[in-house]
Amino acid sequence: MILVTGGAGFIGANFVLDWLANSGEPVVNLDKLTYAGNLETLKSLQGDARHVFVQGDICDRALVDALLHEHRPRAIVHFAAESHVDRSIHGPGEFMRTNVEGTFTLLEAARAYWSDMAEPAKAGFRFLHVSTDEVYGSLAPDAPAFTETHGYEPNSPYSASKAASDHLVRAWHHTYGLPVVTTNCSNNYGPYQFPEKLIPLMIVNALAGKALPIYGDGMNVRDWLYVTDHCSAIRTVLADGRLGETYNVGGWNEMPNITIVKTICAILDELRPSEAGPYERLLTYVTDRPGHDRRYAIDARKIERELGWRPAESFETGIRKTVQWYLDNPTWIANVQSGTYREWVATNYAVR
Ligand code: NAD
Ligand code: DAU
Repeated sequence: MILVTGGAGFIGANFVLDWLANSGEPVVNLDKLTYAGNLETLKSLQGDARHVFVQGDICDRALVDALLHEHRPRAIVHFAAESHVDRSIHGPGEFMRTNVEGTFTLLEAARAYWSDMAEPAKAGFRFLHVSTDEVYGSLAPDAPAFTETHGYEPNSPYSASKAASDHLVRAWHHTYGLPVVTTNCSNNYGPYQFPEKLIPLMIVNALAGKALPIYGDGMNVRDWLYVTDHCSAIRTVLADGRLGETYNVGGWNEMPNITIVKTICAILDELRPSEAGPYERLLTYVTDRPGHDRRYAIDARKIERELGWRPAESFETGIRKTVQWYLDNPTWIANVQSGTYREWVATNYAVR
């Protein structure tokens, strides 16, 4: 049994599906179901005894303690977070609470649980913290990609909260010996991503004939990884990562935002042509995000060299699959847009 936090969100839910498909080991999934949590994504697991869903907050120490003692997981994989940079700019409070206080609460609960474990289970226990490349700050155009030794220079409330959580995880290993590993990953894309993030927002807006808002000059660069490749990296690090280490995860796939959006437009022109004309007609340059980091790029050589992990998906195939997934799943999109997805837990899912 493993405990996954945030397993109803974009990456967490993809991870739960991927984990159960690959290993079959049961999962207890603790998720608060904020606006970003969507159990409809996990509907294929209804009635599957290997998946135990618990709606709850990672800041709730009594609940986390109870789950650890009831389910005796051999690992915690910690995804739960507030994840959207724009939301962190407008309202940073929840980011501090979930990302910092929530990680602290989990670490303390994990420490108490792990301290009481008997060998050999104790030696095998892992706390895997899922983090982001944004903690390293912004790269100059010609600077080498982020390695694991790059200094922390977070620039947004979101990245500052994730940086703080990374430091807590490091300290709990250094001071208490808690067996932790951390992954710092680049931008993910793929099925089930909430349409507030760049790629799903552009697909969904284009299909609705709405403006495609490009922040600033559209030349900010991100490094993109298909979500199932992130899932396989996490499985790899959980299995073989060295304790106390951090592993950068990325697809060697840097691209300016405008190139991404034009690529999406071209794929849609081919797969779902619009009578109104090419989708690029909807491109709209808007005011920039405050403090907008110019460039992120991940040097993934450590995880490749030490653990033999490589991404399976190229951007060309991954973006095409992603656009096709959104075309094939209009109900998932409609339920997210109408808010109906929030009723899923009450109407379609047995909680615990
Ligand atoms: P998401 O916003 O889609 O999902 C977050 C999930 O956490 C949701 O299901 C939400 O309900 C849950 N949650 C939020 N607050 C909670 C709380 N207090 N208690 C319990 N559950 C809570 O996020 P995502 O994009 O899937 O990201 C998952 C993790 O991966 C985050 O830690 C994020 O920082 C990290 N990450 C994301 C990306 C990316 O490109 N999306 C890249 C690198 C790292
Ligand atoms: O780098 C990893 C991070 O990637 C994760 O840690 C975060 O959780 C995740 O949200 C993502 O952060 P970004 O800020 O890079 O993602 P977002 O999709 O919000 O934006 C990607 C780029 O596109 C960024 O440069 C801002 C730009 N953008 C975004 C939106 C939503 C636009 O130009 N227009 C938009 O409407």
